[in-house]
Amino acid sequence: AIAVLDFGSQYAQLIARRVREAQVYCELFPWDTPAERVLAIQPRGFILSGGPASVYEPDAPSIPAYVLQSGLPVLGICYGMQALTHALGGIVAPAAQREYGPAQVETLRPNPLLPPGSHPVWMSHGDRIEQPPPGFEVLARSLNSPIAAIGDPQRALYGVQFHPEVHHTPGGAEMLRRFVVEICGCRPDWTPQTIIEQAVSRIRQQVGGQRVLSAVSGGVDSSVATALVQRAVGNQLIAVFVDTGLLRHGEREQVERAFRRSLGENLIVVDAAADFLNALADVEEPEEKRRIIGETFIRIFEREARRLGKIPYLVQGTIYPDVIESAAPDRSKAQRIKTHHNVGGLPAEFDFELVEPLRYLFKDEVRIVGEALGLPEELVWRQPFPGPGLAVRCLGQITAERLERLRAADHIFTTELAQAGLLGRTPPGSPQRIAQAFAVLLPVRSVGVMGDQRTYQEVVALRAVTTLDFMTADWADLPHELLARVANRIVNEVNGVNRVVYDITSKPPATIEWE
Ligand code: XMP
Repeated sequence: AIAVLDFGSQYAQLIARRVREAQVYCELFPWDTPAERVLAIQPRGFILSGGPASVYEPDAPSIPAYVLQSGLPVLGICYGMQALTHALGGIVAPAAQREYGPAQVETLRPNPLLPPGSHPVWMSHGDRIEQPPPGFEVLARSLNSPIAAIGDPQRALYGVQFHPEVHHTPGGAEMLRRFVVEICGCRPDWTPQTIIEQAVSRIRQQVGGQRVLSAVSGGVDSSVATALVQRAVGNQLIAVFVDTGLLRHGEREQVERAFRRSLGENLIVVDAAADFLNALADVEEPEEKRRIIGETFIRIFEREARRLGKIPYLVQGTIYPDVIESAAPDRSKAQRIKTHHNVGGLPAEFDFELVEPLRYLFKDEVRIVGEALGLPEELVWRQPFPGPGLAVRCLGQITAERLERLRAADHIFTTELAQAGLLGRTPPGSPQRIAQAFAVLLPVRSVGVMGDQRTYQEVVALRAVTTLDFMTADWADLPHELLARVANRIVNEVNGVNRVVYDITSKPPATIEWE
């Protein structure tokens, strides 16, 4: 394994993902994590991330002593390189000019980290290395950084001023692979098969012969987590799927198809559409909707759980970015924009011990494992869907009729996008990938004409965004013929809708969902 120490870089998760893509297991730790916790993963090398500090600031984070004492290979990236230089007796100083953006580096001598030749890279730094520490050679230079990479092959210590982890450094993934595989000697054995084997043996060890409960929502994470637990403990698993009536077209059938064969009677489908409709009657305020849906879900799930008798374990689809996020600096003071309800998740007052088989996986890995477990592609490559479901896309009053209208419009939009190859299975991180696309039913009626008849009907808004992290998003510049076809189909095929509009606001200032 590789330990990545985070000095506060925006790109720390990307470093970990690139290492995983080289099929080497790694974990990300805040730089000041106690040594025992980091050493517990038995690292064969360390990667030090970039960060916003300057090594000469009074409280600048420094390389923990155990890293250099270990004698293991170290790769410092940007601030990590500067911290390494500073710790080992080299000189770091502010550069005359901040270097930010694309640059070209040239390899100066053969070395195990950088291929020969000239490479496009991404730079982002204020300080730079003036003199490498004793024992280090300069491995590469760029126009603005005469010392763009350094190394001491004897001790296997390396530093690069640029960012090999970002897409703007096309050869960066190969450099990181060389470091973890060739320099650290890690075996590239982090494959779907070994991930599954490890997860299965961990789950068996945790739950023994006891029963395990899972709440499947139809989302990727809860589905893959459930499938892993099923693989591990077979019919000790009971999965509960609550049909809230707020799901998309065909979603319930997809879940049943995916799980009925393997789970049989142990898949319990609860038809709760009427409960949710009743609870939501006359509610229009978005936060109120969210609160009611969260509560109703818990009440129904609790009722089912009680009926099943004492079950000590509950499956949760927590993934690695959630774990990293909760270890990161406190953001709880940030203003609350929306109350997120994860319909797969339950409050702490439940007396369950959690089984979290995805706790160390990135989203892309979750999908690959899902495929390897034989889950259907439509489920594994599904776009994210908010816990409160169609309720927060059906603006105004929620009725069965309006939900059906919204569902039909949404289905037309998403199938057209999928047929155009714009939604579904696309290479992760590709900028054109549409991260989320859906229809919204507005609480507005407008006048239209159909045949010779005046119509006075509802409006559907279409929303499609590109984003990597869902914190910021751009509206997708969809082909006009596609938009025209979708609009035409919706007004023709969906009763009660006579107008379609396309949402061209980015986030911020808008959010992705309308409520
Ligand atoms: P916004 O609308 O805040 O959405 O830009 C960002 C992302 O979060 C999803 N979302 C939710 N996911 N429970 C969830 O599990 C929720 O209550 C919820 N609300 C929004 C939204 O679909 C988008 O992907």
